[in-house]
Amino acid sequence: MGDSIMENLFGDSSSKQIPKHVAIILDGNGRWAKKHMMPRNYGHVQGSKTVENICEEAYNMGVEYLTVYAFSTENWKRPKEEVDALMKLLRSYLKNCQKTSSKNNMKVRVLGELDGLNKDIQDSVIELEKVSAANTGLNFQVALNYGGRDEILRAAKRLAEDYKSGKVNLDSIKADDFSGYLDTRGIPDPDLMIRTSGEKRISNFLLWQLAYTEFYFTDTLWPDFNKAELRKAIEYYGNRKRNFGGIKED
Ligand code: IPE
Ligand code: IPE
Ligand code: MG
Repeated sequence: MGDSIMENLFGDSSSKQIPKHVAIILDGNGRWAKKHMMPRNYGHVQGSKTVENICEEAYNMGVEYLTVYAFSTENWKRPKEEVDALMKLLRSYLKNCQKTSSKNNMKVRVLGELDGLNKDIQDSVIELEKVSAANTGLNFQVALNYGGRDEILRAAKRLAEDYKSGKVNLDSIKADDFSGYLDTRGIPDPDLMIRTSGEKRISNFLLWQLAYTEFYFTDTLWPDFNKAELRKAIEYYGNRKRNFGGIKED
């Protein structure tokens, strides 16, 4: 069979590399709402529906880990009304996620400082992680009250505690050992990071883990991000040559 026939049958990306771990800064909910002359909170509701669709498609494409940035340590600076609406949406999202995780065999983990969230939300998170722990499909991480600097600082403090109690020898600590103190322990670093809405910054997301990640930026606002857009991002990833500081021959 000729190459072009193969491509038509299986799509361009069939022979290309699929990222094992995709991380997404979902951005642009507020601008999407404004564009549709709706309140910002409506943008967040639409945005949470997009998360579900993207989980499904990512898994169908062979992605093993998907991490989404849902609420940053800096997002508390937003007006109280918006923070309250986001927390309300989060509550219903976490409840609903219990159902979707069992339907889609998804294992859910939350990254971020749980203690900073309301007690009922903490309980929902713990419950969701527990009920989905044995699932063997997509590993889905939600970053909530998450900041990369906060995560690294908390990790450093835990390491200091272990040093104090004689559990670790500082001379033998390697980067991989330090990764084990982060919220993402056991999860491979992202291969591809997508940010929607045209912004080209990290905004305190996975500062340690993104060291060698490929970045994909799109002007599409998060509520408009769809399965075809995800395929485009993965296609882009498939064409990247990763060197990790070394030299790779073509
Ligand atoms: C992303 O959308 C969602 C959160 C940060 C919670 P935004 O709310 O940041 O949307 P814009 O950037 O204002 O359009
Ligand atoms: C980043 O988006 C945080 C999340 C997506 C949760 P922001 O909209 O908060 O980022 P900045 O403030 O524009 O950098
Ligand atoms: Mg934003």
